[in-house]
Amino acid sequence: MHKPERDRYTSTAIVLHWLIALLLLGQFVFGLMLDDIPRGTPERGMYVNLHKSSGILIGLLIVLRLAWRLMHAPPPLPDSMPPWQRHVARLSHAVLYLCMLILPLSGYLASNFSKHGIKFFNLVRLPPWGPDDRALYVLFNQTHHIAALLLALFVGLHVLAVGKHMLIDRDGLLWRMWPRRAVRRIRRHAGLPLENR
Ligand code: HEM
Ligand code: HEM
Repeated sequence: MHKPERDRYTSTAIVLHWLIALLLLGQFVFGLMLDDIPRGTPERGMYVNLHKSSGILIGLLIVLRLAWRLMHAPPPLPDSMPPWQRHVARLSHAVLYLCMLILPLSGYLASNFSKHGIKFFNLVRLPPWGPDDRALYVLFNQTHHIAALLLALFVGLHVLAVGKHMLIDRDGLLWRMWPRRAVRRIRRHAGLPLENR
């Protein structure tokens, strides 16, 4: 495993973090909007297949991110953080990764236990490799639903935690996950020294 830079994430980790965060937000809203499209209409089939297709691509990006993370240790947490906060931070990051994996996986599994399967971007039909099994479909669909809610909850807590670090602890935690050039520009404008954080 590569040694971390003293106080920031690698550029690849930063790009993947923000790209996936944006895509997940869009995919989440897209998922909620599916509820408004009447069942059994061709329109619904078209949008559900778009959701499935973009979800699969996001899932692949998430696997890439996790692989990168397993090969590159994150920078150590600030020394000022008490042990309980370190535990909570590690645990909540693990829950975020878990939700990020379970969401596309449960959607993919549900689709393969339904006769509809997946029509990739409404162009290429990927026939289901599983039987049309209502009970399994419902199980994975419920898992999808719960993972989506859990992700929203933990992203909310994640943002609150970063807010606390920035506004109360004032340890500049956000800049560890922000492109170095942008941080330098902000520091230059604020008349602060140009170190990493
Ligand atoms: C990658 C991240 C994904 C996110 C954040 C996401 C999010 C959501 C959300 C919020 C909903 C609406 C809530 C619900 O009814 O459960 C939903 C519905 C759905 N998702 Fe996803 N999804 C993702 C990936 C996928 C994938 C990869 C597939 C399938 C290959 C998929 C298939 C579905 C289906 C079929 C529904 C409609 C369920 C229904 O109305 O019965 N999703 N998704
Ligand atoms: C879908 C949305 C998001 C997801 C799934 C997500 C997920 C994660 C995960 C899993 C980590 C841990 C990285 C690691 O050590 O491996 C992380 C770190 C981080 N995230 Fe997010 N994040 C999201 C949105 C945001 C937003 C909106 C902010 C801004 C407030 C943010 C700020 C940060 C920061 C500053 C870190 C680094 C924390 C540290 O230095 O230990 N994230 N994020």
